[in-house]
Amino acid sequence: MSKVVVMEHPLIQHKIGVIRRKETGSRDFRAMISEIASLITYEATKELKLQDVEIETPICKTVAKELAGKKMAIIPILRAGLGMVDGMLAMIPSAKVGHIGLYRNEETLEPVEYYCKIPADCSEREVFVVDPMLATGGSSTAAIQMLKERGVKNIHFICIIAAPEGVKKMQELHPDVDIYIGALDEHLNEHGYIVPGLGDAGDRIFGTK
Ligand code: PRP
Ligand code: URA
Repeated sequence: MSKVVVMEHPLIQHKIGVIRRKETGSRDFRAMISEIASLITYEATKELKLQDVEIETPICKTVAKELAGKKMAIIPILRAGLGMVDGMLAMIPSAKVGHIGLYRNEETLEPVEYYCKIPADCSEREVFVVDPMLATGGSSTAAIQMLKERGVKNIHFICIIAAPEGVKKMQELHPDVDIYIGALDEHLNEHGYIVPGLGDAGDRIFGTK
């Protein structure tokens, strides 16, 4: 069974408190989403493997560490996932970036697929699928299924706010995918919104409502 890691770091909790507030405007919301994404990435990558490498400092030869494992890719689920990409690239600047376009049908809450472009060598990469919100889990499980159908094997999922219903669905459908969560909320309301949540992440990032 996959790992479900809920962040405890005070900086992450503080920033999530700010983006939950309804009076936080798009500019601050966007900046905080990006900062939280950096901090979660820092936690989600703490078990990456290292190897020794001989180097020379200006003073002498020594053995330093470098990342040993697979190269990485970041795959945001459009649109809201886009808000997390820069913050993640600040931590892993050499990662390649793919995109998956999905939106939730507002009545059925089922994901509707409209775009998929991923790095050609994605099946050889450690892949981080990112979306601020894991609500019913429909979008994230569909995105991960799209990647698996394209041969991607090493998948992790990062979100900022999750509902228990979405975590359960992810674990049922993709038990091999570790999930990193900024905050685990109470439940979904009758419209499929996370409670207490932060509202519609995409609209708040892009100022579309
Ligand atoms: C939001 C969010 C997730 C999805 C989560 O996207 O960014 O992708 O809903 O809900 P789920 O777990 O029930 O599928 P939305 O469909 O609003 O699209 P947008 O990012 O383009 O605004
Ligand atoms: N998508 C969002 O943006 N917010 C929610 O609460 C649920 C789905």
